[in-house]
Amino acid sequence: MKKLKIMISGIGNRALPKRPEGSNWLGWVELIRRSEQFELVAAHDISEDARKRIVERGYLAETQTYGDLDQMLEEVQCDAILVSNPAEYHADTVAKAVRKGLHILIEKPFVNNLKEGKQLVEAIEQKGIVAAVVQNWRSKSVGLALHDSIQSGLIGRIGHIMFRYVRNRENPNYPPYIFEEPYPLLYAMGIHHLDLFRYILRDEYESVSGHSFKPPWSLYKSDTGVSLFLKTGNGTPVMYSGTVSSMNNALFQESLVIEGEKGTLFNESPWLEPPLWFFPRGSQEKVDLTKGVEDASIAGQYNISDEYILGDFYRAVVSGKKSLCSAEDGLRSIAALEASRRACETGITVFLKDMER
Ligand SMILES: NC(=O)c1ccc[n+]([C@@H]2O[C@H](COP(=O)([O-])OP(=O)(O)OC[C@H]3O[C@@H](n4cnc5c(N)ncnc54)[C@H](O)[C@@H]3O)[C@@H](O)[C@H]2O)c1
Repeated sequence: MKKLKIMISGIGNRALPKRPEGSNWLGWVELIRRSEQFELVAAHDISEDARKRIVERGYLAETQTYGDLDQMLEEVQCDAILVSNPAEYHADTVAKAVRKGLHILIEKPFVNNLKEGKQLVEAIEQKGIVAAVVQNWRSKSVGLALHDSIQSGLIGRIGHIMFRYVRNRENPNYPPYIFEEPYPLLYAMGIHHLDLFRYILRDEYESVSGHSFKPPWSLYKSDTGVSLFLKTGNGTPVMYSGTVSSMNNALFQESLVIEGEKGTLFNESPWLEPPLWFFPRGSQEKVDLTKGVEDASIAGQYNISDEYILGDFYRAVVSGKKSLCSAEDGLRSIAALEASRRACETGITVFLKDMER
């Protein structure tokens, strides 16, 4: 099998964890090293420390690291780029990679706003390259099992989805910029959850109403909680409530209930780890739909889902198969975020079709 040459922009925690022993994932650099499909040939980061780290850990020679993206794109012959720098730079990095005709794997969120995303999707389509987004809640074992059980008709017609998120992200040791971020719940985590629901339902949001809030102890500038009511094109209601200002570290962060006419799906976990339970209608018995999963740990699940995405990206490049989440698909989740934010800010119901203008 011919390996594809890949470069990275952004050598932070997602690409190469600063503290590997406490990390929830191995990171892209190590996954690529283990992969038979990709070969890492260069990396870019504006931080000298980050560039040093990848060299000191033996992944690249110093001459393969760049502080300047344009220079890397100019000098390195490559098939693909992995964009793992902060979200605000995704659009710029992707635009440059598209001009070079590279295939692109982009960490979530695809971009920071709908407008810049639309222009990029057009450019990507014109170039005929593969651009895939890392929406890894889809490829965690529970995400895949949710998709399959709903799409196979196991729970029948869907009544509604209820989701709640309770997280303590009020850590004064975090870098100050974290506390300046607008709607941290929506942009850091809602992008995973709202995207997952679109994927498992194979349906698009039509409208959203909602409110945002934050408790008196919050260190954040913006509201840290939201309560949303979304409705899909097929009429499925999605109730989404959460906060990143909980003072609780004991409860599971994620709690998901999906009701169908033939039964209920249920998951409660830190970051969507197994088990996914199915309660057949009228029965006290529950069935573990993720029974066969080899590693249900937090790190195990991140690595399984990241490996899946890497393999999926490869197949999309070499065989033209549609990727698990294309840029166009990822952009629809950005639209859902923006609509949710607008709904909270205005107090009115926002229709997704109006977001496209
Ligand atoms: N899919 C997931 O589960 C998941 C989890 C966490 C983060 N992420 C995403 O991964 C990406 C990286 O997040 P992270 O946690 O590694 O962040 P990080 O802050 O640990 O690392 C970001 C790195 O990018 C570098 N950088 C800053 N500006 C840059 C620029 N203009 N060009 C190139 N590099 C630049 C920084 O020096 C740093 O090394 C973000 O898009 C984030 O949303 C995804």
